[in-house]
Amino acid sequence: MECGIKTLPSILITAGTLLSTSLAAPTPQLLTWDEAYIKAEALVSQMSLEQMVNITTGTKWRRTPCIGNTYSVSEPDFPALCLQDGPLGIRHADNVTAGVAGVTAASSWDKQAIRERGRYMGREFRGKGIHVQLGPSVDIVRAPDAGRNWEGFGEDPYLQGVAGAETVLGIQEEGVVATAKHYVFNNQETNRKASTSNVDERTFHEIYLWPYARMVEAGVGSVMCSYNMIDDIWGCENDYTMNTVLKGELGFRGYIMSDWGATHSTVLSVNSGLDMTMPGDIIMGDDYTYFGSNLTDAVDRGEVTAERVADMTTRIVATYYKMGQDKDFPETAVNFVNRTMALEVFVQADHHKHVRSMGAAGTVLLKNDGVLPLSIDSIDTLALIGSDASDDPNGPNSCVSRGCSNGTLAMGWGSGTADFPYLITPHQGIEAHVGDDVELTYTFWDWDVEEAAEIARQADIALVFSNADSGEEHIIVDGNVGDRNNLSLWHNGDALIEAAAEANENVVVIIHAVSPVLMPWIDNPHVRAVVWSGIPGQESGNSLVDILFGAVNPSGRLPYTIARNEEDYGVLVVNETVIEYTEKLELGYKHFDAHDIEPLFEFGFGLSYTTFEYSEVEVDTEGEGDDIKVTATVEVTNSGDVDGAEIPQAYISFPESAGEPPKHLRGFEKVYLKAGKKSKVTFEFGKTELSIWDSDSHEWVIPSGEFTVHVGASSRDIRDSVSFTVE
Ligand code: NOJ
Repeated sequence: MECGIKTLPSILITAGTLLSTSLAAPTPQLLTWDEAYIKAEALVSQMSLEQMVNITTGTKWRRTPCIGNTYSVSEPDFPALCLQDGPLGIRHADNVTAGVAGVTAASSWDKQAIRERGRYMGREFRGKGIHVQLGPSVDIVRAPDAGRNWEGFGEDPYLQGVAGAETVLGIQEEGVVATAKHYVFNNQETNRKASTSNVDERTFHEIYLWPYARMVEAGVGSVMCSYNMIDDIWGCENDYTMNTVLKGELGFRGYIMSDWGATHSTVLSVNSGLDMTMPGDIIMGDDYTYFGSNLTDAVDRGEVTAERVADMTTRIVATYYKMGQDKDFPETAVNFVNRTMALEVFVQADHHKHVRSMGAAGTVLLKNDGVLPLSIDSIDTLALIGSDASDDPNGPNSCVSRGCSNGTLAMGWGSGTADFPYLITPHQGIEAHVGDDVELTYTFWDWDVEEAAEIARQADIALVFSNADSGEEHIIVDGNVGDRNNLSLWHNGDALIEAAAEANENVVVIIHAVSPVLMPWIDNPHVRAVVWSGIPGQESGNSLVDILFGAVNPSGRLPYTIARNEEDYGVLVVNETVIEYTEKLELGYKHFDAHDIEPLFEFGFGLSYTTFEYSEVEVDTEGEGDDIKVTATVEVTNSGDVDGAEIPQAYISFPESAGEPPKHLRGFEKVYLKAGKKSKVTFEFGKTELSIWDSDSHEWVIPSGEFTVHVGASSRDIRDSVSFTVE
């Protein structure tokens, strides 16, 4: 192993001088990959080996303004690239939007809104002179207690794929490189840097690779290889996952960067497909790198070819050109090392409106016996109970990277965070909404259940707030090392809910949670409604008000399964160094279906203030072989008396001989319908949706036999099923 050699001399990035500007970035001119490669090859062909290597090497931890930077080169000129977290907005920066987390975006099941979320994030990153956004995260929710579940888009590969691709398209339309991460099998925080995830080829392709395939089709510019090992080989040294699959099978034309400190070698990494080492150091904070002069030496020794280094560089340069970053690219306006030195650039525009509406669109109404929506006219006193309704007295950013749990939960912790410009708490949102018309009483002291009961007893309606938090392993919150120690509500939540329900027959529970929790009180009739508010970001209280008081009719649907008991889940986080994915394809709802376990709330579930009827499901097949096209249509009618949106979902059952779990999500749409109106919804399935991975031929194949399309309102609320045969 080569180490101990200092990196090449660099052209350092200078920190910005203090200046205040507002955002007026021109629309970037995007190129196709082919066009971008022509420009990149022309530039890279003029570069020396040292120059090429500089473009692939990070400038090391905390040496330059962004969370990751590459070195610039001159003659020919290529700038230092700025890479910055994270999946929901710009980390370590001021005057930015702190929006909903990936999982809450996913629970909107709204493709257009997810694309728009990507766009506004792209505009903010570009406006701050950041070339590469370190998101989206598409880590599948494998274990309900895994710490970073809230950063990605849930338990289902199809949903992850749609949300991932829409996010990539949105970010990149604005001229910023999106990064799909963490490739691959980084599905828990425990031992993430010391474990191997062992997964069979079919499961890899059908579950974990699926979202990457969709993002590659969407043109994603970069992919981050993960900390963990895969079948005993480090993620960033893995020839199979990087060269064979990502660059080979999927035809990925962008570049692979390491997760921070996930590079373990020079020759093996580079020859296995790693194109950029981040943040550059061998061990973060040391003075050494596996790339830099170690890489030029490896070329001199003949262990890495000069062509491979040119390929690495061309991939990076082409991605830069593809996003139109060579024209009118703003000066970098973040400074992670010294925040006060960052240029003052305001990029938020009116993005708060999108955050508010997506916070509401991503809210899932789990239970409602008719108590919701609330009407100000019929309430005199409303009790707010639980610290999750209130603010952190030290401010919403009191703990670095949200590494504590004080007040309402609007973000998990770790690198997936942004600093809040402000945080509207539920208390503030409700207070602003009800004004003087309703008397608000409250207790935010979670451990005094008697006080909670007393306040509840005197109110018309008691709103009880609780949460469950998690994050990345380098921060420990209340003994939780990233992953959660259990699936219970935090801050005495269950006891508060039970105490309130003992004292008042009209309890509404509001939960902000990173992923599923246990709800031992769910069948208590006094708990009349449960609102699942997810991880809503800076507009939390306003989004909640929109749902509680009916300005928005809930249409969020669960992006994961909520089980009745912890043991019902097929997988939980394990404290092992060998993590066998023995569940194979039976992940999430597929596990519950395959083992006939009744979930508490199934994948795809969510209530509305209106009702929807489904009729006339029809299926039509055209073409054959790989050109087959199957079309399913359904008529959806808003049969209630409130306008609202429905999310019809299409699930496919494969022929029995395929050996698949009972059903797979393969289509969904969000349709807005005025009361009494109906609309025809169409789903199309082709080779992608109808194939399984054949581990013998190493190919996607459409199995022959009888398929069934199930159309319904959730994975368990199937309204009609129609079969078709593939010869
Ligand atoms: C490690 C995290 O796993 C990754 O998601 C993040 O982008 C980098 N740190 C940089 O903060």
